[in-house]
Order: sequence, then structure tokens, then C-alpha cells
Amino acid sequence: MSFTHERIETHTGWLVVLVILVVSVGGLVEILPLFFQPATTQALPGMKPYTALQVEGRDIYIREGCVGCHSQMIRPFRAETERYGHFSVAAESVWDHPFLWGSKRTGPDLARVGGRYSDDWHRAHLNNPRDVVPESNMPAYAFLAETRLDGQDTPAKLRALRTVGVPYTDADIAGASAAVSGKTEQEALIAYLQCLGLALKGGNGSWN
Ligand code: HEC
Repeated sequence: MSFTHERIETHTGWLVVLVILVVSVGGLVEILPLFFQPATTQALPGMKPYTALQVEGRDIYIREGCVGCHSQMIRPFRAETERYGHFSVAAESVWDHPFLWGSKRTGPDLARVGGRYSDDWHRAHLNNPRDVVPESNMPAYAFLAETRLDGQDTPAKLRALRTVGVPYTDADIAGASAAVSGKTEQEALIAYLQCLGLALKGGNGSWN
């Protein structure tokens, strides 16, 4: 028996097995190198991990479901880069666990929002988006200004992130509780928003 094209196409079992084989090899050849290329596995030069306060802010961003309305991934198309800034690159997400690229844009992409507005603007916007953007349909998050962080879990969060490769030092972890305790959830969230995209400009925080 020989594997002629005709024989394969007329024997469904063989066709299924060989298609799976070919697609798997094709998939592996495309996907596997991504795990080993510096462009997708190493942080950008000068990139710093999120501060303890930014980590807490990021967790609030996750808890409140901001990712359901905001992406953090700028695609390399002109309409995107003119509106949002430099397109996103894989290296800026290597310390993001979980990543927050998102896929829904009820509101604008936030990958480069850091530094675009003042802290005061963010406070007003989070308390009531309509006060600064009258046509906004974003929910108000005024309650975030009323809850204070106690910092109890912050060292454990940094330790967990270190386990998966984020380069926190022992000093970062030791100082994590003090760095956040007493701060409001709103302050933490704003600290996070203000660092998005900033490593691109040599700033603190992740580049993402
Ligand atoms: C129901 C969808 C929705 C949710 C949930 C939501 N937003 Fe928004 N967001 C919007 C819309 C729409 C806009 C544009 C109008 C405006 O600026 O308020 C916006 C604007 C923004 C902006 C200004 C962006 C810019 O470039 O002008 C920031 C910052 C922001 N949102 C942060 C957040 C954060 C943080 C959360 C979670 C606490 C959140 N959003 C949750 C819909 C949403």
C-alpha cells in the first residue's frame, strides 16, 4: 500500500491522522520559538517591575473588571498608533501575570495612558466620569476612595510574582506592606494607571 494523494483523500481515517500530524508540526514550528526568543521572553532594557502600590492598583483593576471595557494592546495599525501611541510589543508584558491585553473596547485602550492626565483628573474621573467627560458611560468608582489598604497580603503577592520571574528584591518584599498600608484603593489604582506605557519614556513601572 502506498500513500498516494488519492488513497489519503479517499480514506477518512488516514486523512484525519495525517491532517492532525501536519497541523501539529506547523503549529509547533510557529509557537515553540516564541518561548525562546528574547523579544518575547525578556523585559525591555531599563524596565522596572511594578511598585508594591502599583501591584495593588493592578489587582483592583482586575477585581473591578476594567479589562472588560478597556484593552491594553495597541495594534500596529496607523489608526491605532495615531490615537494611542507606540504599538504594544511582547517584551513589555513579560512581567504581567495575568496579562490584561483585553479584547473589548467600550472605552479607549489604556496601554499608554500613563502620564496623559494628572492624578487630579483621574480622581475626578473615577469618582464620576461624567464630571470630566459628559458623554461618558463608564461607571463611577467613588467607593475606591473610601477603602484603605492594610498591606497584609502585599508581600505575598510580590513573592508570588517573583516565583514566576518578576525580579523583586528581598528589600522590595520586606517594604511592601509599609509602602501601601494606609493608602486608598483609589490611590493604588491611579498609581497603576499612571505607569502604563511609561518605561517607553524611561519612567518607572512596567512599560505596559
Ligand atoms: C462599562 C465600560 C467601562 C468600564 C467597566 C470601565 N470603563 Fe473606563 N472608560 C469607559 C469609557 C466609555 C471611557 C471613555 C469616556 C471617558 O473618558 O469616561 C472610559 C475612559 C477611561 C479612561 C480615560 C482614557 C483616556 O485615554 O481618555 C480611563 C483612565 C479609564 N476609563 C479607566 C478605567 C478603570 C481604571 C476602570 C475600572 C475601575 C474602568 N475604566 C472601567 C468605559 C468603561
